[in-house]
Amino acid sequence: MQTNVGLLGYGTVGAGVARIISLEDALLCQKVGWPLKLAKAVVRDLSGRRAFPAPPGLLTTDPSEVVANPDVQVVVEVMGGLEPARTLVLAALESGQHVVTANKALLAVHGREIFEKAAQSGREIFFEAAVAGAIPVIRTLKEGLAANRIQSVAGILNGTTNYILTAMSRGGATFEEALKEAQELGYAEADPTTDVEGADAAHKLILLTALAYGVLPALDDIRAEGITKLAPADFQFAEALGYVIKLLATAASNPEDGRLEVRLQPAMIPKGHLLAGVNGAMNAVMIRGHACGDIFLSGAGAGMMPTASAVVGDIVEIARLANSQSKLTKPSLGWQSLKAETVKPASDIWSRHYLRFSVHDRPGVLAAIAGALAAHNVSIAQVIQKEADPGTGQVYLVMLTHSAPVRSLKAALDDAASLEGSLGPARVIRVEEFREGR
Ligand code: NAP
Ligand code: HSE
Repeated sequence: MQTNVGLLGYGTVGAGVARIISLEDALLCQKVGWPLKLAKAVVRDLSGRRAFPAPPGLLTTDPSEVVANPDVQVVVEVMGGLEPARTLVLAALESGQHVVTANKALLAVHGREIFEKAAQSGREIFFEAAVAGAIPVIRTLKEGLAANRIQSVAGILNGTTNYILTAMSRGGATFEEALKEAQELGYAEADPTTDVEGADAAHKLILLTALAYGVLPALDDIRAEGITKLAPADFQFAEALGYVIKLLATAASNPEDGRLEVRLQPAMIPKGHLLAGVNGAMNAVMIRGHACGDIFLSGAGAGMMPTASAVVGDIVEIARLANSQSKLTKPSLGWQSLKAETVKPASDIWSRHYLRFSVHDRPGVLAAIAGALAAHNVSIAQVIQKEADPGTGQVYLVMLTHSAPVRSLKAALDDAASLEGSLGPARVIRVEEFREGR
């Protein structure tokens, strides 16, 4: 007996998967009970350079050599993008093949259709590599923590942005330099705006929300915000205030109203918090469950071998089932059906915030801004103002607020932006408190 594996894609991740299956064949055979064999790998360009050389005859440009090929039991989709990945994954499931994918965009956008197809076909779709690279967070939420009411999930889910933020907070590299390094290391998506504007981490957050709460939010519900608007001054003020800036994904059930709060934004995290120490391309997830308490998982979130580790872990698990003709009944997201619940609008969420105003250093400006905040019931916790630039007379006025609804803060900032002495809209960064009970 053997299980034949077909790859859709032989790029960074696909070559890593081929490397593990080829070089660790004895180990994997011990774990599965019989050998795994790479049958075919679909690419666009047969002459492209490969990080792990493909054996002669493995590469093809014809997806039908993998999808719906009766000699291939497991289809591994590591091509990325929405199409033709969606069509090929649906066709594979329809034809009775099991699927492993690393493609979070595909599942976040077309998850309902794909998970339904898997259930109808009685086939498995595994996606451990789609969230937080090598970290086994999917299995942890789906199986290990199944007994829990999940109170919150908070994570650093994008290696590229964490690599850039780490470099910028250390003052060692510009945004552009750090992004280029992340691309060279194979962390970034084919279109890196997906990383830096937050869509990639938002796709992962959608999947974590589905696993934790049985709710699959739409991308629009999350209103993802990336890291491109952060300025060096924000890192300096964060340091002075005792915080670190991270692109933080959170899904939480609000204990006061029971509603789901799902956000993907840069956030200031207290320096002493475990997530604040997650640097470079590392990812981490903190899960708070009513019975398990806090669970912290950390590891490589991107790159050829860490991602391949998660993909091959899924292949091993599926291979143990793949030669059985019986239909499977285990739901891929760990819930028998997804709930229709929607997430709370961002404007209704309460949070503390960091505000950086650019103003003229004139009498009454600070008082007027404080007045605009007070008029909307936003209370100030701390204020920093340094000496103004002697050339321009301009200065940053930085405030930390107490917790207030985003709606009130927005109204106050609209008023403040039009005040005499204001030089434009304030830069706003959420301050995450990691309160108990959340
Ligand atoms: P990649 O290096 O760009 O590789 C994509 C592969 O798919 C290439 O071999 C490409 O062929 C092939 N391909 C793409 N479109 C195709 C098409 N229409 N027809 C046939 N072949 C096609 O991408 P990657 O970094 O390995 O990422 C793959 C997936 O894994 C993505 O969904 C990504 O989000 C996910 N992921 C990546 C990482 C990471 O660290 N890189 C981590 C976690 C998840 P050619 O080689 O001929 O161009
Ligand atoms: N581009 C992604 C990242 C790859 O940087 O985290 C892993 O999903």
